[in-house]
Amino acid sequence: MRRFSGQIVMVTGAGRGIGKAIAERFATEGAHLALLSNDGLELEQTAKDFTDKGYNVLPLCVDISDPVQVDDAIHQAINVFGRIDILINNAGIAWEESFLDITDRHWQQILNVNLNGMFYVSQRVSRHMVKQQSGCILNMASTNGLVGEEKYAHYNASKGGVVLLTKTMALELGRYNIRVNAVCPGYIQTPLTESIDDSEFVEQYIRNKIPLGRVGKAQEVAGVFAFLASEDAAFITGESIVVDGGQLAY
Ligand SMILES: NC(=O)c1ccc[n+]([C@@H]2O[C@H](COP(=O)([O-])OP(=O)(O)OC[C@H]3O[C@@H](n4cnc5c(N)ncnc54)[C@H](O)[C@@H]3O)[C@@H](O)[C@H]2O)c1
Repeated sequence: MRRFSGQIVMVTGAGRGIGKAIAERFATEGAHLALLSNDGLELEQTAKDFTDKGYNVLPLCVDISDPVQVDDAIHQAINVFGRIDILINNAGIAWEESFLDITDRHWQQILNVNLNGMFYVSQRVSRHMVKQQSGCILNMASTNGLVGEEKYAHYNASKGGVVLLTKTMALELGRYNIRVNAVCPGYIQTPLTESIDDSEFVEQYIRNKIPLGRVGKAQEVAGVFAFLASEDAAFITGESIVVDGGQLAY
């Protein structure tokens, strides 16, 4: 199926993990890609992998927590492609830290990327989508945006913010034919989770918390993003869809 033939898709945090899987899913369905990441080496490697596979990509090295860099990247993408049809706000960071130990700097670091960065990119891209009178924005939240988890106060707060930012954007942008939705994954195996948890922790987590008895794959999240951006989801906006192997059913 090539549901996104010729469409311009911008993906933040596209160098690895879930963002890379999302970008690839859209490319296999015919999209042209603007790939954003703050890690130049990783971005270069992903852009090369994708170009070798015949995908049309524009890599843009940008820290989304810096509004000046965001403005510049969006300007470049519009110069090259002329429009942005779908924005995937995926970039995010996380680490474990107990509430009593979180420094102001760490609090700001996580909020600056996960929530402020999403605001900067979304607002700037929305202004172009308003002119186009069409668009789709998909925000990466988390099950941690819907329920709490110990040792992730900064991360949980940022993802809870994403869920309500999504609803508010949907309310204000619907009149311009722009849909805005969020996806809330549970435990997905990526370089991020591999950097935080050892295999013993993961096995115990699966046993105690995930009814489907395994962690998720990045491609399983990417498919939900593709569905939400497709015509099949034309009447869905302001929604947050959970992709967690049943974890929140407990
Ligand atoms: N892996 C999970 O279990 C899980 C679950 C729920 C939600 N999420 C969310 O999914 C998203 C992707 O997670 P992942 O596991 O693939 O992580 P990852 O660390 O493997 O990939 C994150 C990507 O974001 C980029 N990035 C980080 N900070 C950035 C910045 N300031 N500017 C631009 N790019 C930046 C990184 O370079 C990388 O390409 C995050 O928002 C994360 O919170 C992940």
